Amino acid sequence: MKMTAPGPTGAEMLRQLRAIQRAPHEFLLNCARTYGGVTQFPIGNLPVYAVSDPAGVRHVLQDNARNYTRDTLQFNTLALVTGEGLLTSDGDYWLQQRRMMQPAFHRQRVAAFGQTMVGATKKMLTRWDALPDGVTLDIDHEMMKLTLEIVGRTLFSVDLSAAASDMVQAVLITLDYIVYRAQTPLALPPFVPTPRNRAFHRALQMLDDSVYRLIAARRAESTGIQNGDLLDLLLAARTEDGQPMSDRQLRDEIITLIIAGHETVASGLSWTWYLLAKNPAASSALAAELAQRLNGRPPAVDDLPHLPYTRAVFDEALRLYPPAWLITRRARAADEVAGHIIPAGALVIISPYVVHRDEKLWPEADVFRPERFLGESVPRFGYLPFGSGPRLCIGNTFALVEGALILATVAQRYRLRAAAGHSVQAEPLVTLRPQGGLLLRLERVGN
Ligand code: HEM
Repeated sequence: MKMTAPGPTGAEMLRQLRAIQRAPHEFLLNCARTYGGVTQFPIGNLPVYAVSDPAGVRHVLQDNARNYTRDTLQFNTLALVTGEGLLTSDGDYWLQQRRMMQPAFHRQRVAAFGQTMVGATKKMLTRWDALPDGVTLDIDHEMMKLTLEIVGRTLFSVDLSAAASDMVQAVLITLDYIVYRAQTPLALPPFVPTPRNRAFHRALQMLDDSVYRLIAARRAESTGIQNGDLLDLLLAARTEDGQPMSDRQLRDEIITLIIAGHETVASGLSWTWYLLAKNPAASSALAAELAQRLNGRPPAVDDLPHLPYTRAVFDEALRLYPPAWLITRRARAADEVAGHIIPAGALVIISPYVVHRDEKLWPEADVFRPERFLGESVPRFGYLPFGSGPRLCIGNTFALVEGALILATVAQRYRLRAAAGHSVQAEPLVTLRPQGGLLLRLERVGN
């Protein structure tokens, strides 16, 4: 029998407004624990349905994915920056772009980036080595710089973290603006020349100019030169009827990959270091696996199948703190999700943070236990750090390889320690970030 989903009333929402604004991920988790796997509540006069039941997740993201569009505040705001890139486009256009770009993210292609990933990490460690042992660093900031360098080098062979610092500033300003707009739905529209809107448009212009310059320079290079980066692959990609991408399409996809591909990985790694610092036994098990397999040498992609615990540590961190904590869709037509009616036009929310902390799927859900990912089967549609169905993250292999290589390179040389009683709150922005950064003490291991 079809049921109306239970959930808090408008009056209850108003009473909790501050708490909801401060920690929407916790609000969603409480809703699921109180009302179940499909709940509804109003935001203004918009009906919102939060789905965490695995069968419901499967229905929305996979089985009936065509009924769910990206016409939501989350994606419309992102589109101000990423245009019609893969993350924000929909329908036939999205499918055409996805088909064109998919080969660039195949495992073998990603494997070719392994050396770049390790090289950038070693460069960071050289900088750390020059610091006094025991120094405290904002590890979140370090991870952001590192992943930005990696995305820049793998995309277009440029070190974004150093050479193009204007571009980095522009990326950060546009990301801040996305958060501001998502949190302030009543803000004046982007075309109104408020100081904030103008700063955003300046940053966007700067970003566009840099990306168009990169594309033009690459097009001007004599053909046949291979840089071996993603831009080469995007330039060579063709639609089914043989069309290449226009400059505008390339611009949208490149900016999408910068935005989707760096803060997510950085957040995932920051939480990994935090969890390791809080769990010395896991940290020792990780060090033991790395010592046994690598014996002090830098890791390579071929080592990854032999480093199951390293991978499990990253998987488990992505379970507890999934960087993409919120996935939103708009229902095209009315639908039934896990026995509940969803009306046409409703906003549907799936929060991996909520699904990953469901005690029925993950006993002792709040406990960090990488062993869950060794041997035990992972509940289908109960683990979705990269989403699921046709819109599964195109960069998921890239992210897992990058995460494991960075972890293996750093953890061989350093143990990151938290001060006693140190606790960090999660702040749900575009990704789930450690609030106020992540201060950890560097402790050199071995020589
Ligand atoms: C730990 C790191 C990452 C996480 C947690 C993550 C998470 C996600 C999630 C959940 C989605 C699906 C969103 C939805 O269905 O609404 C997604 C899509 C996407 N991700 Fe990632 N991502 C990560 C890394 C990357 C990297 C490294 C890249 C590129 C280099 C990337 C590029 C993209 C793109 C282009 C999409 C849109 C795919 C499409 O709709 O066809 N991501 N990501």
